[in-house]
Amino acid sequence: MTHPVLHDKLRQDADRLSEALEHMSKLFLAPKEQKTLRSFTTAEVAELLRVSDGYLRKAHFDGRIPEVTQGPGNKRLYTAEEINEIRHLLAQNAKDPFQFLPGRRDGDKLQIWSTVNFKGGSSKTTTTVTLGMRLALRGYRVCLIDADPQASLTTFFGYQPEIDFRHGGTLYDAIRYNDGDTTRVPITDVLRKTYFPGLDLVPGGILLSEFETETPTALSRGEQPVFFNRIRDSLRQVEDEYDIVLIDCPPQLGYLTMAAVCASTSLLMTIIPERVDLASASQFLTMASGILEVLHSNGGIGSYDNFAYLLTRFDTAISTQQDLAEWIRELLGDSVIRTPFVKSSAVSEAGLSQKTLFEVDLAGTKNRKTYDRALESVISFSNDIEVMIQSAWGREVKRET
Ligand SMILES: Nc1ncnc2c1ncn2[C@@H]1O[C@H](COP(=O)(O)OP(=O)(O)OP(=O)(O)O)[C@@H](O)[C@H]1O
Ligand SMILES: [Mg+2]
Repeated sequence: MTHPVLHDKLRQDADRLSEALEHMSKLFLAPKEQKTLRSFTTAEVAELLRVSDGYLRKAHFDGRIPEVTQGPGNKRLYTAEEINEIRHLLAQNAKDPFQFLPGRRDGDKLQIWSTVNFKGGSSKTTTTVTLGMRLALRGYRVCLIDADPQASLTTFFGYQPEIDFRHGGTLYDAIRYNDGDTTRVPITDVLRKTYFPGLDLVPGGILLSEFETETPTALSRGEQPVFFNRIRDSLRQVEDEYDIVLIDCPPQLGYLTMAAVCASTSLLMTIIPERVDLASASQFLTMASGILEVLHSNGGIGSYDNFAYLLTRFDTAISTQQDLAEWIRELLGDSVIRTPFVKSSAVSEAGLSQKTLFEVDLAGTKNRKTYDRALESVISFSNDIEVMIQSAWGREVKRET
C-alpha cells in the first residue's frame, strides 16, 4: 500500500477547496457589492469645512457654491464629491485659501502612519480605515496600505482578497524579492482608486506572508534593498501624490511590520484598556525597541514625528477600563491621544458587513444616539491626529472641543 505524501494531499485539497469556493462565490454571492457612501448634512459639512452652518447657507444663497439635493424636510444633503468641489470653490475666493485646504504645502513631508500592535483584534484595521475615510473627507489625499496577509482592510473596499488577488495585485508585488525573472513592480501597478473620493488603496492578501518567509534567505544572499527599506522605497514613487499614507499592520512583529515601521514618519499604537492587552503592548514595545535599535545602526528608522497611543474599544461603562485608561494616561502622558475610540455596537455592526460609520445607511440605523456617540468619538480622535499631522508640518492648529 502506498502512503500519500502529506504535502501533495494538502495541496490537492487546497486547490479543490479554493476552486469550489470561487465557483460558489460566483454562483451564490451577490455580485461584488457596489459600495456607496452616505450623504452628509449641512451640520456635518460645516464641521468638515470648519465653517458655520450660516456661512454655508449664505454661500449657497449668494451663488458662490452650487446647490445640492434636498432630502426630507428640505434639508440639504451633500455627497463627498460635492463637499470637495465646495471646498475648492470656497478656497478660490477665500482670503486664506489654506483655511479650506489642509493638505501638504511646499516643503511639507509626506506623513506615513503605521497602525501597530501585536495584539490581535485591538482595532488596528477598523481604526485605520475609519481614520483614512475621515481624513479624506477633511480634504487630505490619503493612501491606505494593507500590509496584513489577512487583508481585512482590503475587504472594506468591496474586494474578496482570496479571489481577487490570489495571483497578485497586492503590496507584495511592490516589495517582493527577485525570483528568476520575477522582480518587484512599481507600487503604482497595484495602487487602486476606491469609490471613496480622495482615498486610494494598496490591497493586501495572503501572498504577503511570502515576505515573512523569504526575508531570511534574501538577507543571507545580501539582496538589496533590505527588508526594512522595501516599503519605504516603494512609497517614494508616489511621494507627491498624497498628503497622508496609513499602513495597516498585521498583529505580529514580523518583517512586514518592521518594514512598515521603518517607512513611517509616525506610529499609532492601538490599545484596549484591559490588563492582558496592556501586557502585550508592553511586550511589543520592548521587542520593537530592541529590533529598532539594531536596525537604527544599520540605516533603519531613526527619527519620527509622533508616537501616539490610541485607546480603542474603550467601554466607558466598565470601571476597570476607566481606571486603566486613567493609569495609562498618567504613565504615558501626552503620547496618549486625548479622546479614545469608544467601544460601540454601531462600529461592530457596521464592521460585520465591512462598513465603517461613514457608509452605513442612517435611515436604517436602529439606534441613532449610539451611532452619533461613536461618530463623535471618531471625529474627536481623528481631529487629535490631524493636529499632530499639522504640527509635523510646522503648523499649530487650534483644537476645537
Ligand atoms: N470601537 C469599536 N467598537 C466595537 N467593536 C469594534 C471597535 N473597533 C473594532 N471593533 C471590532 O473588533 C473586531 C476587531 O477589530 P479589527 O479587525 O479592527 O482589529 P485588528 O486589530 O485589526 O485585528 P487583527 O489583529 O486581526 O488585524 C472587529 O470585529 C471590529 O468590528
Ligand atoms: Mg487588522
